[in-house]
Amino acid sequence: MSRPVTARVPAKVNVQLAVGGLRPDGFHDLANVFLAVGLHDEVTATPADALRITVEGADAGQVPLDRGNLAARAALALAERYGIEPGVHLHIAKDIPVAGGMAGGSADAAGALLACDALWGTRATRAELLEICAELGSDIPFSLVGGVALGRGRGELLTPLETGGTFHWVFAVADGGLSTPAVYRECDRLREESGAGASAADVPDPEPSQVLLDALRSGDATALAAAVSNDLQPAALSLRPALADTLRAGADAGALASLVSGSGPTCAFLAKDTEAAQGVATALAASGTCRTVRVTSGPVPGARLVGDA
Ligand code: C5P
Repeated sequence: MSRPVTARVPAKVNVQLAVGGLRPDGFHDLANVFLAVGLHDEVTATPADALRITVEGADAGQVPLDRGNLAARAALALAERYGIEPGVHLHIAKDIPVAGGMAGGSADAAGALLACDALWGTRATRAELLEICAELGSDIPFSLVGGVALGRGRGELLTPLETGGTFHWVFAVADGGLSTPAVYRECDRLREESGAGASAADVPDPEPSQVLLDALRSGDATALAAAVSNDLQPAALSLRPALADTLRAGADAGALASLVSGSGPTCAFLAKDTEAAQGVATALAASGTCRTVRVTSGPVPGARLVGDA
């Protein structure tokens, strides 16, 4: 019997999320600058008669245990590719907010893939793992890669980026999640409503901001704060207007930047240093505008097997 294998995978925040027009395949072209932060899920794979998922953590009740779970789909995709039985128990220790715009589901998929690959001895190449990740979801390749990267296409075509330092973040977790497809649909609806149109013919191609890339390279938090942007933020605020109160509470507490994380509803706040982050977190916790507050920093590495160097 093989020994259990555990993979540890980080959450992400998007420091730039530029959204192009709606493509014929239902996706949007992006210029998506991902930054991995130090909140992690751990996925442990143990041999079993059949595929089974269990979850622990504060948000465990919100995680599907069937084949709708991205971790299950990742295990099935790897097993199918290598023609083996997907007999595995996947246990997810969940610390990343669920349906929060921080790629928690994507982290579990990348973790399951890495852990099953080690458990089953399939020895997939990095390129194969990235290909399976991209088939499963647009954000999943980044969960494997981590650090800071620019995602083009629907977010799956990654170019790693250099950073000159560590950035300090506070995350305000809302009650209840937001559906990513619903937020993209609302983005399209708002564009139609404004008269600009929402198709790829109407919306300029999304481009990474040079000012933002320079700020990341220099490790300058104030410069990064001035350059962050999220085209999905108006849509998330339209679906969840109370997020404006959360963003304001963080800004009033001295955050350098306040923005919705990805498709939300988690809000992200950039702080000057650890002390400033603690101050923003304390004020947000007292504001009554969110369920939980987390303090962390990034960039951090992508999915790793626990016990590996
Ligand atoms: O790829 P993923 O499964 O994460 O995408 C979930 C949904 O989010 C898609 O079905 C689509 O509605 C929306 N999406 C999009 N454009 C992207 C990524 C996601 O419209 N680049």
